Amino acid sequence: MLRIEKLTKRFGENVAVDAATLDVDKPSMIGIIGRSGAGKSTLLRMINRLTDSSEGRILFEGRDVTQLKGRDKRVWQADCAMIFQQFNLVPRLDVVSNVLHGTLNRHSTLATMFNMFPMDEIHRAIDILDRLGIAEHAPKRAEALSGGQQQRVAIARALMQDPRIILADEPIASLDPMNAQVVMQALRRIHEEDGRTVIANLHTLDTARRYCDRVVGMRDGRIVFDGLPEQLTTGVAREIYGADASFSEEATSTEIETLDATQKALMEAEATI
Ligand SMILES: Nc1ncnc2c1ncn2[C@@H]1O[C@H](COP(=O)(O)OP(=O)(O)OP(=O)(O)O)[C@@H](O)[C@H]1O
Ligand SMILES: [Mg+2]
Repeated sequence: MLRIEKLTKRFGENVAVDAATLDVDKPSMIGIIGRSGAGKSTLLRMINRLTDSSEGRILFEGRDVTQLKGRDKRVWQADCAMIFQQFNLVPRLDVVSNVLHGTLNRHSTLATMFNMFPMDEIHRAIDILDRLGIAEHAPKRAEALSGGQQQRVAIARALMQDPRIILADEPIASLDPMNAQVVMQALRRIHEEDGRTVIANLHTLDTARRYCDRVVGMRDGRIVFDGLPEQLTTGVAREIYGADASFSEEATSTEIETLDATQKALMEAEATI
């Protein structure tokens, strides 16, 4: 179905993704883990063609999608819808219009500008929202919803494209544990009930173990682990995260998470000065 062959991305001297090879031969729910800077986002962005690869191939049902241009590329991008940590909704626009924007590629710019969508698509959008348990919020502005609700709107927008693959880049990193669970369960159901493949970058081991059939570990741009959740032992996790002997199973996610969050906050602070 999906085959990634020696996919590489270089940013100058830095190799963000280093000859990553991955085979998905049936609809799966895959979690990608690894510390900050391991190349997780870059890998997803290359699959979706938001970022061009430096080398390697991405084959979907035998066709190399790294070569697609124009309309074919947009069709592929709809086939592998992307979900982001920050939801990327239009905050002041109502929920249902945000969802309808998932069909953007199919309509004229003018129709989209005036939010004119066919009635059957409006119904479909509301059905999808209903399935995700948030239909009652359809007329509200996106910004009026909680984080977990907004992420479900983003999932609804992705589903509007009827994608074969859903790529989720840290979909629960900004959510509290309750909302995180609701969003992960929604992704799991979409995988199980619709047979769609979900590939999610996750920043905690326990989430990957709990919701995924397969876990991929990245370190320094390379795929260093690819196996079943139960094969992800503390020793393996330590190798993936490059932690020293003080690394403990319970501490894994939270410790690394806190470190990364602090690092990110510092970098963001630096960038704004
Ligand atoms: N647009 C870019 N320009 C230059 N370097 C980049 C760019 N995007 C990513 N990188 C670099 O590529 C490497 C991998 O980054 P990436 O964002 O894929 O990591 P990640 O695993 O998603 O990390 P995080 O957990 O922090 O999200 C890092 O060294 C990063 O600095
Ligand atoms: Mg990332």
